[in-house]
Amino acid sequence: MNARSSTKRDLLTFDDLTAQEIRHLFQRTTQLKRNRAAGRDVATLQGRTLGMIFEKPSTRTRVSFETGMFQLGGQALFLSSQDIQLGRGEEVSDSARVLSRFVDIIMVRTFAHKKVETMAEYATVPVINGLSDDFHPCQVLADLFTYEEHRGPIGGHKVAWIGDGNNMANSWMQAAAKLGFDLVLACPANYEPDAKLLGHTQLEAASTGGSITVVRAPAEAVAHADLVCTDTWTSMGQEAERQRRLRAFADYCVDEALMRQAKDEALFMHCLPAHRGEEVSAGVLDGPQSVIWDEAENRLHIQKAVLEWLMGVDIH
Ligand code: CP
Ligand code: NVA
Repeated sequence: MNARSSTKRDLLTFDDLTAQEIRHLFQRTTQLKRNRAAGRDVATLQGRTLGMIFEKPSTRTRVSFETGMFQLGGQALFLSSQDIQLGRGEEVSDSARVLSRFVDIIMVRTFAHKKVETMAEYATVPVINGLSDDFHPCQVLADLFTYEEHRGPIGGHKVAWIGDGNNMANSWMQAAAKLGFDLVLACPANYEPDAKLLGHTQLEAASTGGSITVVRAPAEAVAHADLVCTDTWTSMGQEAERQRRLRAFADYCVDEALMRQAKDEALFMHCLPAHRGEEVSAGVLDGPQSVIWDEAENRLHIQKAVLEWLMGVDIH
């Protein structure tokens, strides 16, 4: 049970967003991206500090949050769990209350999703999930924004997820339920997304005009798809399972032959880091349908909008 205060906002999963709020964030993201391109960033977060706790490695999340805060006139603190007392066993609840006395907003990348929830429960400032074992909402917001930048509103379109029913897949399921698009996930046996979450999101999707289906065959998922997505077969924290996973996912590589079975104009996305020759072929990752660099860049723009929104900076 989440005991978070109703007087502050957090972004732990898509459950913290309405479809209308997602639309608002996308509008602001477009404006922020334009400002950046024109060299006209506005210091909306002057004097504000983001504390970023990392218990797992990161390139995109760290650099996009850090530069995003800087561009909006604020600053970000990189807090590796190896260097703060959290890593020596200080309670999450104590760390949350102390950090809230210093910083204006907290981002956490960790293992158990419960830890992000505890941080949000005890922090008196907004908390952002920068990836947990179960969800990666900032990445999927960037992915949705990237899709719409290239192709227009995603509602009613078909997204194929190929591979692991992991944190990215879970956030995609929540997004399909919110925004009403068709998501088909092709996963090997024993690597399907969480059954309870699947049930919830399927019900919600039914009320928004979307659908969520899990199938075994990648070809079935990509048929008529407008977007094909995949992710690493071995997520952070699963390194000991790598050999077993390589065998289980051997038939789930997104290669040119699979992409040919999607729509001709289908886009390809990967949250990165990627492993060419494993979950995706080099030809697809570096090919004409791939929008991975826009997808990575958009982490910056969408997160700036998220930071403003969570800190209640009203922009009109
Ligand atoms: N996609 C993503 O979150 O990348 P990092 O692990 O580099 O932050
Ligand atoms: N599923 C991957 C995403 C990396 C951004 C992981 O959790 O490692």
